[in-house]
Amino acid sequence: MRVLGIETSCDETGIALYDTERGLLADALYSQIAVHSEYGGVVPELASRDHVRKTLPLIQQVLDDAGITRSELDAVAYTAGPGLIGALMVGAGVGRAMAYALGIPAIGVHHMEGHLLAPMLEDNPPDFPFVALLVSGGHTQLVQVEGIGRYELLGESLDDAAGEAFDKAAKMMDLDYPGGPHIARLAERGTLGRFTFPRPMTDRPGLDFSFSGLKTYTLNTVAEHALDNGLPDDQTCADIALAFQEAVVGTLVIKCRRALKQTGYKRLVIAGGVSANKSLREQLEAQLAKIGASVFYARKEFCTDNGAMIAYAGAQRLLAGQTADLAIQVTPRWPM
Ligand code: KG4
Ligand code: ZN
Repeated sequence: MRVLGIETSCDETGIALYDTERGLLADALYSQIAVHSEYGGVVPELASRDHVRKTLPLIQQVLDDAGITRSELDAVAYTAGPGLIGALMVGAGVGRAMAYALGIPAIGVHHMEGHLLAPMLEDNPPDFPFVALLVSGGHTQLVQVEGIGRYELLGESLDDAAGEAFDKAAKMMDLDYPGGPHIARLAERGTLGRFTFPRPMTDRPGLDFSFSGLKTYTLNTVAEHALDNGLPDDQTCADIALAFQEAVVGTLVIKCRRALKQTGYKRLVIAGGVSANKSLREQLEAQLAKIGASVFYARKEFCTDNGAMIAYAGAQRLLAGQTADLAIQVTPRWPM
């Protein structure tokens, strides 16, 4: 079966075509980063307008790339939430209407389920069960995954998401949005040990996270070392970026180890934008190898928002017989 996937929950228009026998046939992504960067964050109205402009041309591009016509599609999956309501409505409206016109099922997919299943698109996908660490701009969650649709929340952030913390720390040092990749690049030049930032909530039992204290600590350190232009010198910024990243990664590693111990599972999946972070991947691999556990993640372009994960999750939902009715519905806040 061939499923078209449409992702428009935030600032990327992602379209892909997944075949349940042949795998991923084509995918395309348009990033709005340039549109939003001068505002230091995503402007919802501008995001919706850009999705309107890009969604249909990208669908056509993906169909052309795969050599498939619309009539050969078996279902259309779209992100139904969580996300920005106007942005979600674009993908849902296009996806639902297209399915209606073609007389095929439409499937509303949970964005975080898409992220969670993205590593399944790789050559060596994890077997069930596993623990998933979902780390994106809006979510930080540890989830016990027994199979498709069988998810139990083990812990989550009580305040900022990990990606959001990266974005805010970047803003403090005048780096562009989204800040995660900029912090990671700056940290490569940092001096390990010049600053040590707190690892929040690791001294207490449990699997919840909190990143707002770390954000304040970062802000204070930046202010303490600021020069006349309001920013620390270049090397100090790099040292702060490294200390910040080490604290986030260190916290995530401790909680992942704890979640694996609690469940007795030996597989960890990391997904969402922050799972693209090289230091997180390396430190998790090194630490989990010590307890005989392995780490799985998607290729870099499928860690951040994309259409392939929605097409894949939609295909799994279709196989399970779950489709959306004709009334187009999106859910901006939606627990998984
Ligand atoms: O999953 P995603 O593309 O969108 C949401 O669903 O939120 O995640 C975006 C987040 C942003 O906060 C971005 O700064 C962060 O992922 N991110 C990273 C890296 N690449 C993206 N954070 C740390 N290191 C990276 N290499
Ligand atoms: Zn996302």
